[in-house]
Amino acid sequence: MDIAYFNGTYMPRDEIRISPDDRGFLFAEGIYEVVRWYQGFFFDMDGHLARMKRSLKETFITWPDEDKFPAIAHDLIRLNHLENLQSLVYLQVTRGAAIRSHAFPIPPVNPTVYAFAKEFTPENTGRESGVAITVREDIRWARCDIKSTALLPNTLGFQDAVSKGFSECAFVRNGMITECSHSNIFLVQKGIVHTHPESESILSGITRKNIIRLARRERIPLKEEAVALRRLSGVQEIFITNTSGEITPVVRVDNFVIGGGIPGPVTRILRERFNDQICSYKHS
Ligand code: PDD
Repeated sequence: MDIAYFNGTYMPRDEIRISPDDRGFLFAEGIYEVVRWYQGFFFDMDGHLARMKRSLKETFITWPDEDKFPAIAHDLIRLNHLENLQSLVYLQVTRGAAIRSHAFPIPPVNPTVYAFAKEFTPENTGRESGVAITVREDIRWARCDIKSTALLPNTLGFQDAVSKGFSECAFVRNGMITECSHSNIFLVQKGIVHTHPESESILSGITRKNIIRLARRERIPLKEEAVALRRLSGVQEIFITNTSGEITPVVRVDNFVIGGGIPGPVTRILRERFNDQICSYKHS
């Protein structure tokens, strides 16, 4: 039986009842986080906690127990006997339930907090040989830096990609590649790694931040600069990053083959260093 966290208690997941007046349901007024458990530790929990707090602040959602997120995540791993398995913990906070009105409830209501843990099997084939992605206009809102549960443009984009046999969908805004439906994107041009700068146009991925740190430490040239889609022909390597997939090489964008169809050396080095970093967490 899956045990989930719901508003301060741990209970069987299928016994959770959420109000139809929840503002997460009515307005998609909520934020979320996903952290990865590596059979013994969470990777960069501090980074995820800081981002979650920022998302709450930017959406004016108050969750007095926000600092309990790491403890809740650990409890869910233990209660679901996932200690020795690769797992993910998902946590979502909405503004809570109140009769529908665009204005925030007065007096404020308690937020709705839901979290669950699930076993997760990393997808290794694509991570080794590389994946194909497609490109779509970025039709999202102007605050993509908030990890909001309002993900309709992301799910529409990803579903379109999947239905056409692609592994991810990259978004383009004003001709510039921003990020993907649920990952950040890095492009290597003439030995320099490029990724869209932190701004309101992308989510500041925790994996992205760690890759940038690693690249700087390894003296791999990296610029936080967006790449124009029309410059794709000058790109030798692409990879995408997120919590579940870590670093995934991209070897085709729609019909355009990248790097001769095989993952390139910069991607490989960064993946090795990222793995080293995860191992060092294990031993710290
Ligand atoms: N998504 N950009 C977007 C739009 C994302 O949704 C995500 C993560 C990322 C990468 O962030 P991070 O490295 O912190 O996982 C970038 C999660 C995994 C999800 O929605 O399930």
